[in-house]
Amino acid sequence: MTDNPAGLTVVGIGADGWAGLTGTATAALTAADVILGSDRQLALLPPQVAGERVAWPSPLLPALPGLLEAHRDRRVAVLASGDPMFHGIGATLRRHAGQVRVIPHPSSVSLAAARLGWPLADVDVLSLVTARVEELHPLVHPGRRILVLSRDASTPAEVAALLTSRGYGDSTVTVLSRLGGEDEASVRGPAATVDLTGLDPLNVVAIECGRGGARLPLTPGLPDDAYESDGQLTKREVRAVTLAMLGPQPGELLWDVGAGSGSIAIEWMRSHRACRAVAVESSPERAARVEANAAALGVPKLEVVVGRAPGALAGLSTPDVVFIGGGVTRDGVLEAAWAALPEGGRLVANAVTLESEAVLAAWYAKLGGELTRVAVSRASPVGGFTGWRSMMPVTIWSVVKP
Ligand SMILES: C[S@@+](CC[C@H](N)C(=O)[O-])C[C@H]1O[C@@H](n2cnc3c(N)ncnc32)[C@H](O)[C@@H]1O
Repeated sequence: MTDNPAGLTVVGIGADGWAGLTGTATAALTAADVILGSDRQLALLPPQVAGERVAWPSPLLPALPGLLEAHRDRRVAVLASGDPMFHGIGATLRRHAGQVRVIPHPSSVSLAAARLGWPLADVDVLSLVTARVEELHPLVHPGRRILVLSRDASTPAEVAALLTSRGYGDSTVTVLSRLGGEDEASVRGPAATVDLTGLDPLNVVAIECGRGGARLPLTPGLPDDAYESDGQLTKREVRAVTLAMLGPQPGELLWDVGAGSGSIAIEWMRSHRACRAVAVESSPERAARVEANAAALGVPKLEVVVGRAPGALAGLSTPDVVFIGGGVTRDGVLEAAWAALPEGGRLVANAVTLESEAVLAAWYAKLGGELTRVAVSRASPVGGFTGWRSMMPVTIWSVVKP
């Protein structure tokens, strides 16, 4: 961390450049000894801004500490687009430099909402500046409005293709480019057919989701057929109960040990975008399927580790919660999971065989917690009639580490 005793100010600037800045912002820029920003942003400054202009190198992040150190005794102003604390450089600078003064400008998202007449509080916002387009999936629901911060000119077409492949080709897509600038422009049409060629890289995509398309609710217990699987899948009803026992909270890290098709880790991450998970799966084929399921269901950031527990658990980041869906009978798996958990950490383990149930019963006797058995039957045709088909009962042990 580099403190700047002379002062570090981040100034948000829009496509309307100098003319759109407040008096506070222009005063900060005029007073600065050095101004850092992209070439595009620096070009927006008039000649009377006399400070030395330094263009960001690419990639920026590795160079940032050195740049801050090099200018630590000078008054530094940093140019950022829109609101610097909204998916912007402001938050990054705050991590690298102690005191940062922030002068925000309306965000591109605020400008888009103003143009569209959308109440911002009812709109989901996603940045695809660095994230994969699949992160859009959990936000796509009939009739919902979404604003996407684009990475470049190709992002709108990626968004439209994802919507169309999900059956939401009837969504209305509006690409708003160079908001606030003299050359502001927009393109609108149905996701399936709108022409999204030749766009400006500075754009946001507004989506009004259509009514068709696959339903993927956010509550745990997605239909089993939402997953690609070879049968190694915690079934919907048991999965819903298991997720309730796991109790994901924003920011928590789950280890899903013996991930199978990945459904537990995937629904853990779908519960909140700040939830993180590592799926540990010994079969490379199944691990590849976990990755495919994670992308298709909107959580491409799921980390997949191909390996066998307990060995594969060594070196993973400390979990808040561990789920063991397979492998409780394997020597050292429960021991390693328990040892990895911090105080207050939670462990949930499922068993379907007598042998694995015996292991859970022994641990329950030793450590307490809750032991639950879930027996599910589904109605299905029996000849011309309907009868119950029982699925294998699942024993769930759930415990908090004291
Ligand atoms: C790194 S993010 C920063 C967001 C910024 N802090 C804000 O509040 O708007 C940059 C995103 O904003 C979009 N963007 C910035 N200025 C824009 C403008 N004038 N019109 C449309 N999109 C803009 C870019 O296309 C990109 O998706």
